[in-house]
Amino acid sequence: MNEPQALSISQKQLNEMLGILVKNPSDILLSGLCRRYLALDRWKNGGRYLKIHEDLNQGVMPGSIEHNRRELEKDDFGSFTRTLRLINPMMSLGQVYGHAHRLKVLSIGPRTEMEILHLIGAGFNPNNISAVDLISSSPLVDVGDMHKLPYMDKSFDIVISSWVLGYSRDPQLAVDEMVRVCTDRGLVSIGLTYEPGYGRGVVANNPTEDEIVGSMYGSVEELKKLIGEKFDYVYFQQEPESDEQSGPVMLIARIRH
Ligand SMILES: C[S@@+](CC[C@H](N)C(=O)[O-])C[C@H]1O[C@@H](n2cnc3c(N)ncnc32)[C@H](O)[C@@H]1O
Repeated sequence: MNEPQALSISQKQLNEMLGILVKNPSDILLSGLCRRYLALDRWKNGGRYLKIHEDLNQGVMPGSIEHNRRELEKDDFGSFTRTLRLINPMMSLGQVYGHAHRLKVLSIGPRTEMEILHLIGAGFNPNNISAVDLISSSPLVDVGDMHKLPYMDKSFDIVISSWVLGYSRDPQLAVDEMVRVCTDRGLVSIGLTYEPGYGRGVVANNPTEDEIVGSMYGSVEELKKLIGEKFDYVYFQQEPESDEQSGPVMLIARIRH
């Protein structure tokens, strides 16, 4: 019996598919490699002037800006794909699948345009995406602080905080702000990595050069407590299997005002 053949694509098929992409350039952002190329190219050619948020009094962990500036200079911006761990499950939800183009999204702490390109690739309309970070090299990213978001109440259908909450010494204020700017029945999506060595809650007030840990959570329950009574449904959650294991803590919840 013949072995099943791996998918092979002929030169003719490849050329025709390239032709399809040329006619539909927005589809190019469906490719992770192309998103990566575009984010790096835009950063290298023109994005290197950094605007920096000045008022750090609300809840910003000391050292956050210096640490993230260093990460930004790395070849992979610190991480190209981490945020997809939140975006991918969100895309399968009934209120998002097929509706992304008309939903308003706020990305908190994207660090670069990479997260914004992921959102566009997933189907969100670039005109409906806002982003805010303490540092910005992009016209697509506002300069601001998650503890005092520069947006009106209930302005976004989806609020994403992908690996950002750890930089807070007042995570309750940061989450209250996420909830405030989210619409009724909108989605708040939070991800971070639990590292058992750091303990829980607001833990490290004297960060080292490399490690900035303002707050640390090891379970979804702790994230739910921060949202308090302001959610009524959890669509997606994951946490490490035990307190001794490091791993992602992720939550996508529906907000009720
Ligand atoms: C680890 S990066 C996450 C990048 C991206 N979201 C991801 O998941 O790969 C954290 C980002 O949050 C930003 N950040 C930290 N504290 C912030 C604050 N108080 N307000 C807004 N952004 C903040 C940092 O400047 C950095 O760009």
